[in-house]
Amino acid sequence: MGTDGSAWIVSRTARAPSNIAVIKYWGKRDEDLILPLNSSISVTLDPNDLSATTTVSTSPDFDADRLWLNDKEVSLSSHRYVSCLKELRDRATDVKDEKTGIVITKEDWKHLKLHIVSKNNFPTAAGLASSAAGFACLVFTVAQLMGIKESFPGELSTIARRGSGSACRSLHGGFVKWEMGKRDDGKDSIAVPLAEHHEWDDLRIVICVVSSRQKEVSSTSGMQESVQTSPLLHYRAKEVVPKRITEMEEALSKRDFSSFAKLTCADSNQFHATCLDTSPPIFYMNDTSRRIIGLVERWNKSEGSPQAAYTFDAGPNAVIFVPQKSGGALLHRLLYEFPPPEGMNLSSYVVGSTELLEALGIDK
Ligand code: DP6
Repeated sequence: MGTDGSAWIVSRTARAPSNIAVIKYWGKRDEDLILPLNSSISVTLDPNDLSATTTVSTSPDFDADRLWLNDKEVSLSSHRYVSCLKELRDRATDVKDEKTGIVITKEDWKHLKLHIVSKNNFPTAAGLASSAAGFACLVFTVAQLMGIKESFPGELSTIARRGSGSACRSLHGGFVKWEMGKRDDGKDSIAVPLAEHHEWDDLRIVICVVSSRQKEVSSTSGMQESVQTSPLLHYRAKEVVPKRITEMEEALSKRDFSSFAKLTCADSNQFHATCLDTSPPIFYMNDTSRRIIGLVERWNKSEGSPQAAYTFDAGPNAVIFVPQKSGGALLHRLLYEFPPPEGMNLSSYVVGSTELLEALGIDK
């Protein structure tokens, strides 16, 4: 009850960006705790571009936990939501809401129900890591509401990980490593920041939305099938990725675009080769994705050194990394190969920063 005896509602809102892996996570050693077979590295995107915004409210009037995702009510009965909310409730503290003066005790949180409203500003499940942004945002916002403080570095990332593995990396900005960890309880399987965006501030990211359709094979079931049937996946996790993680960390610390680009493209290609090595094979990329790979490879070859790097998560959309000085040239090449459909003007076909639009001669 409020101080005047009326029913009350307390809310928090937060935004979490999506992330794109440059050294991929694919395969779990523990399905319940979501412990990966290998460490991974990603870059967290700008929240203005691809992010989830979540509002979590609580009130004594609510009689059940409920979730609305992009305006549609979604069941919270799945194991992943249940474990995230349990982990969060276990850590809830006494809080006083500054706005209303309402005090909620640790004991109250055991009974109070949550209403969660979350929206993505990009297509869900089209290989643009919507679940990563969604779970990171949910965990972060509930933690704010419940006054949760981490008892060890990365604790919140271990909770986001229980929602979706890649979500743990979205709790930090810039380049982020998800340490696979060694422990069976997952306490050391955490996300750690490697370098902030501003430390490599001339790197630009171009996302080519090849399709906004929902993917046919989810990452979760795709990686389960790969773990069961792909010999390449096990070789990759054990022999290839550990070395690549070290090399990628070195490339990032030196801002060495050439090594970064080679490792990023190689890792994306090996991830998709692993999908093809799965039985039945999984195809996330399509002909347009492969044309984009061809375009970047031809450009890099003709210049004699990497000008751009591509990567594809579990979907056909391309993410291209390019140093700022080559951004305009990349966009011109992409537009030459993939002109806007008839009747569509350039300013609706290409959206983004002023700098990017200026490179194409488009006024905002
Ligand atoms: C290809 O994190 O979506 O994007 O842990 O089962 O929820 P679950 O899978 P998810 O898988 C992401 C796979 C990937 C690579 C990556 O982000 O590292």
